[in-house]
Amino acid sequence: MAFELKQVVPWGRTMDEYILMFSLSEDDLNKSIVGFGDGPASFNAEMNSLKRNVVSLDPIYKFSRAEIAERIEETRSTIIEQTSKNAEQFIWNEFSDIHTLEKQRISAMNDFLSDFEDGKKEGRYIAHSMPDKTTFENGQFEIGLSSHFLFLYSQLGLEFHIQTLEEMLRICHEVRIFPLLNLNVEESEVLQEVITYFNQSHQIDIIKVDYEFQKGANKMMVIKKKHL
Ligand SMILES: C[S@@+](CC[C@H](N)C(=O)[O-])C[C@H]1O[C@@H](n2cnc3c(N)ncnc32)[C@H](O)[C@@H]1O
Repeated sequence: MAFELKQVVPWGRTMDEYILMFSLSEDDLNKSIVGFGDGPASFNAEMNSLKRNVVSLDPIYKFSRAEIAERIEETRSTIIEQTSKNAEQFIWNEFSDIHTLEKQRISAMNDFLSDFEDGKKEGRYIAHSMPDKTTFENGQFEIGLSSHFLFLYSQLGLEFHIQTLEEMLRICHEVRIFPLLNLNVEESEVLQEVITYFNQSHQIDIIKVDYEFQKGANKMMVIKKKHL
């Protein structure tokens, strides 16, 4: 099925949020990183301006800057309305209120948009839909990240999660996933089955992080091959 932009509600987080969600140390930030489903987050743009190495994969990158900007504009008021309606599901510390949240998210997405065309030419933004195989070598990246993609979209199913993670783990030494909840802010339906599937061959750690905006969404999974 063709991937259409109207299926996507673009909403992008910042580098500081990525650092907290994935407990990225200074050492980690100097490693080669690939983000799966990075969408309009400003992580790649901000890291690039600090001369650090991030490649982002997302099907929305097949669209032009103008098309993505238009889709952001079309959907932003709906996202803000829904977040307002469900305000009790969030912890309002980092963002003191809905207006601060909107300002930060729009600023992050503008940073992404300003960087998008250059980054695409430089191979930092690659249009790619998981679980399709990527063109990268085995173990090409030290860290693979999934922010608000795997587990959150549990409706994609167990098979999708397994195939996507197999490809991520083929090209990355380790993969970190945040959050472990689904869109209803409950433990993702596929979480336990993914753990069962990869447990034999991989080391899996669930780690509490210093980031919690959606209540209870404060843990990441770190998964890497077991050294047998
Ligand atoms: C909620 S956004 C998260 C954006 C960013 N990671 C962040 O946390 O700010 C989810 C992203 O997953 C992307 N996505 C959806 N299906 C995908 C797939 N099959 N492969 C890779 N990315 C996908 C969407 O295009 C969207 O940009």
